[in-house]
Amino acid sequence: MKSAHLAAYPALRLRRLRQADWVRRLVRESVLTPADLIWSMVVHEGEGEVPVGSMPGVSRLSVKDCAKAAVEARRLGIPAIAVFPHIDGAKKDATGSLAHDPNGLVATAVKAMKDAAPEVGIMCDVALDPFTDHGHDGLIENGRILNDPTIETLVRQGIMQAEAGADILAPSDMMDGRCGALRQALESGGLQDVMIMSYAAKYASAFYGPYREAIGSGKLGTGSVDNPGDKKTYQMDFANSDEALREVALDIAEGADMVMVKPGMPYLDIVQRVVETFAMPTFAFQVSGEYAMIKAATQNGWLDEERAILESLGAFKRAGAAGVITYFAPVAARLMGA
Ligand code: PBG
Repeated sequence: MKSAHLAAYPALRLRRLRQADWVRRLVRESVLTPADLIWSMVVHEGEGEVPVGSMPGVSRLSVKDCAKAAVEARRLGIPAIAVFPHIDGAKKDATGSLAHDPNGLVATAVKAMKDAAPEVGIMCDVALDPFTDHGHDGLIENGRILNDPTIETLVRQGIMQAEAGADILAPSDMMDGRCGALRQALESGGLQDVMIMSYAAKYASAFYGPYREAIGSGKLGTGSVDNPGDKKTYQMDFANSDEALREVALDIAEGADMVMVKPGMPYLDIVQRVVETFAMPTFAFQVSGEYAMIKAATQNGWLDEERAILESLGAFKRAGAAGVITYFAPVAARLMGA
């Protein structure tokens, strides 16, 4: 019997559609699949694996193991791999000369992966930081990062990557005008099918910390005039959102085929605005620090690993992203049953 003080039952019961797994699946608004993942992978020149201390579960892989990983990506249904080189400190210099070496680590790794699994897309970072002894993404003169001379080097690097077989060039340097310069060079070099996914809205972020260990780029941070300790003169201020739309608009106008927001989780508002404004394939990079945070908590038993990984990745799909660049890619694909 209905008691008087409960007379007003809810007219709408949203819980009705949550009562069982089958109906939750039926009304689900976004779905994450292995096809949404780009596997972020670190390659080194030596043999075997070198674990990255600040990223438990991630190792620098040899070229041979990268090729095997490409075969594994194909098996797991992961469409693409983003490859990041760890370069020996002794081989770095102020101008990042090895960035465009056609016989260097990146070219070798790309060729090995494309030979092993041609069906898997290979994406290369166009940026100097793995190759410069100061760890910056640009050439430096009198304590300033030079824009246009840096672009000339980036174009040589991008063309080298494309000629080695890279399918997607991902300029991550944040110099003005680099997408247009790359696009022109690709067109005039007969490489018109090579795609550009620009790191369009890339923020100067604390969350890239573990990546510097991963690629052996540890010197940034001395804070001296000729070696500024941060990337704030070229990467974006985390307080800004409208500016991200201007960055994305420029990169699209210059010829980017896809755009990226980076970091990922703390920037879901930017992902959503970019998707809604441009209706372009928009990706988010779940960066090294996000990976490290989740791993640190799960290793302590503070979070459930499986649920934390899938929820963090699913959030990008809910925000409208076409996909996610993540170090969790193979683990996540297996969790999804691949
Ligand atoms: C290079 C680059 C960085 C990352 C990807 N490409 C570091 C930076 O811009 O300082 C970060 C990746 C990560 O943290 O996982 N420009």
